Amino acid sequence: MTKDKSNSMWGGRFEDKPSDIMTQINASIGVDQRMWRQDIAGSIAHCEMLIQQKIISEQDGQAILGGLEQVAGEIERGELVFSAELEDIHMNVESRLREIIGDAAGRLHTARSRNDQVATDFRMWVREACGSMVDTIEALQGTIETLRVKHARDIMPGFTHLQAAQPITLGLHLDAYAQMLSRDKSRFEDCAKRHNQSPLGSAALAGTPFPIDREYTAKKLGFDAPMPNTLDGVSARDFATEFLFTCAQSGLHLSRLAEEIILWATPQFAFITLSDQWSTGSSIMPQKKNPDAAELVRGKTGRLNGNLVQLMTVLKGLPLAYNKDLQEDKESVFDSYDTLMLCLQAMDGMLSSAKFNTANMLSAAEDGFTTATALADWLVMELDMPFRDAHHVTGAIVKMAEDKECKLHELDLAEMQGVEPRISDAIYKVLRVTP
Ligand code: ARG
Repeated sequence: MTKDKSNSMWGGRFEDKPSDIMTQINASIGVDQRMWRQDIAGSIAHCEMLIQQKIISEQDGQAILGGLEQVAGEIERGELVFSAELEDIHMNVESRLREIIGDAAGRLHTARSRNDQVATDFRMWVREACGSMVDTIEALQGTIETLRVKHARDIMPGFTHLQAAQPITLGLHLDAYAQMLSRDKSRFEDCAKRHNQSPLGSAALAGTPFPIDREYTAKKLGFDAPMPNTLDGVSARDFATEFLFTCAQSGLHLSRLAEEIILWATPQFAFITLSDQWSTGSSIMPQKKNPDAAELVRGKTGRLNGNLVQLMTVLKGLPLAYNKDLQEDKESVFDSYDTLMLCLQAMDGMLSSAKFNTANMLSAAEDGFTTATALADWLVMELDMPFRDAHHVTGAIVKMAEDKECKLHELDLAEMQGVEPRISDAIYKVLRVTP
């Protein structure tokens, strides 16, 4: 057997090395090294359990635990050079462990497979990612809440079809986004909670004949329980698709806010002035101040949606249990995490440093007969008109204001009484946008 030519981790029955392109397509270390902390934590828990269950000796176990600490330190300090020949983070760690402690390292993988190992590491990573998302969303919610309180009474036009519809407050408008964010936050919390079960102990797919203690490793790694089914344990990735969807959904909310910021920052709207820190200039047009951060938040929605579709496509039609296709599960998750983090922080920075031009908002709210609905409601409430009739009367009054090129509250009472004689002076209260 030409062992030196084959892979030392799994090359027992191999006589030849993989081709270079095979090594390249097979390697995931460039991506999954990001889970090194989870991998070491998983190995420590597994090793402690092996000692406790007397599956390995105390002596070998202690050597492994000490070695794993050392490997962790080396990775932390950037000293460990990862190798593509060793495929992934799991084999890179184990190989370094063997260099440090010798043959005892070979006992760590007793009663474990990379299949349950990677599923466990990745679940822990996603769980932590959900926690960081919750914290970052809360920070943005705090910023929006401050603005909501500050602008609770500032009038702006509310839109439907992007046409001025009814006067609302800026506080109400901002609060709509706070509501979306709070649902996003709860989706991340749900995701972390729903999938907080440990695959470890599923081994390759069918469990293991060793007397392992899955409760111990599950508890040690912060899971609520072991996953009940070993096939599901190694092949389930709905924790990852759910995370990707939640990122995409939250990015989608941010992109709607970004779109409004972009509109509001145009000279035509002039509802918002972004700070210099969150804008860019044009290299040719000196007057320009562009809302690039908002545009990028809007644009990055494409990546977030794409990442979700990528993993769902990988998973579609995969037979049980583990297939190497599953190695394609991490890159999009890491990318969505990085992307949404950046978007949440950019939105926070943009909003907290922006100036809302409330005078412009108020005057825009006074244009476009935005109090027409309030007028119709008044006719119903005060004169007991059927709403359809009130709608008709209001339409005639709006037409009058349109012809005279004035606002509704600038019409004379007598003119309005020409349309509906029972209209009284009290009508002006609802015709003005300000209370
Ligand atoms: N790097 C692999 C992954 O991310 C680890 C599992 C490999 N399992 C196997 N049977 N080859 O999926």
